[in-house]
Amino acid sequence: MATPPKILRTVPSLRRALEPYRRAGATIALVPTMGALHRGHIALVREARRRAKRVVVSIFVNPTQFAPHEDFASYPRSLAVDLKALRVENVDTVWAPPVEAMYPDGFATRLSPEGPAKVGLEDKYRPHFFGGVATVVAKLFTQVSPDFAFFGQKDYQQLRVVTQMAKDLDLSVKVVGVPTVREPDGLALSSRNVYLSSAERAVAPMLHKVLKGCASRIKSGEKIDRVLNVGRIEVDLAGFDLDYLEARHALTLAPIASLKEGPVRLLVAARLGKTRLIDNVAV
Ligand code: PAJ
Repeated sequence: MATPPKILRTVPSLRRALEPYRRAGATIALVPTMGALHRGHIALVREARRRAKRVVVSIFVNPTQFAPHEDFASYPRSLAVDLKALRVENVDTVWAPPVEAMYPDGFATRLSPEGPAKVGLEDKYRPHFFGGVATVVAKLFTQVSPDFAFFGQKDYQQLRVVTQMAKDLDLSVKVVGVPTVREPDGLALSSRNVYLSSAERAVAPMLHKVLKGCASRIKSGEKIDRVLNVGRIEVDLAGFDLDYLEARHALTLAPIASLKEGPVRLLVAARLGKTRLIDNVAV
């Protein structure tokens, strides 16, 4: 079995652990996570392994991206199991700071991303979210100074926000998007899927089914508006409370009315009981 990864809990110890990699000229990849690892996270780790000599995985349930009514306290945490999985994947370093190491007393800075963070998708329903994500990811990029960082396309708006943030702050990290890993029935893997009851779990794959149906009708020339209106009704009839089902420009996330205007991404968010699910597909 592979040697266990080094687990670091303070910024100075992280710096010390990374210093020899840097001295040896090794490329470093970072995979930021909130733990409760599943095959989606592991796909990012494998991609990181392929692209860089050293792999750092961060595990940090970031309080600043949760609203007070959201699930910070109950978010699934499974550090021991996560560490075993990362050992199997030959991860060199796990950066798992306590909240006080990431946000010491007196911490007073928060990024306020715009552009793809202000397009009326996740930001409309979780207004605090991308400020918290951009702040913690900027800190992670500064702490680790990776050559590459891997993010899932599953959280498509997050991927665009982080890519823009790294560019705007002149951080020399290449942000890489990795395709969504799904269950055999199409449901996108998510740490929050454990919240689904068995009846909800049976309905959940409909979200991806509707997205795929919409994508293929748009590809075959049907009008985007019409297709999305039907899709919204399908999501509703399946028993979800729909937040949004939208077609957006794949890079800017600006609204888009026809395939001629650029690459199109379909994005959806809907609630099933207490669980909020998001998904997206390319057209
Ligand atoms: P978390 O939800 O743990 O996700 C960590 C990374 O795994 C993200 O880049 C996410 O897009 C990716 N991921 C999740 N499910 C996936 C799937 N089914 N297929 C492929 N990739 C998947 O996203 C976060 O944490 C946080 O916001 C974070 C970026 C760590 C900042 O706190």
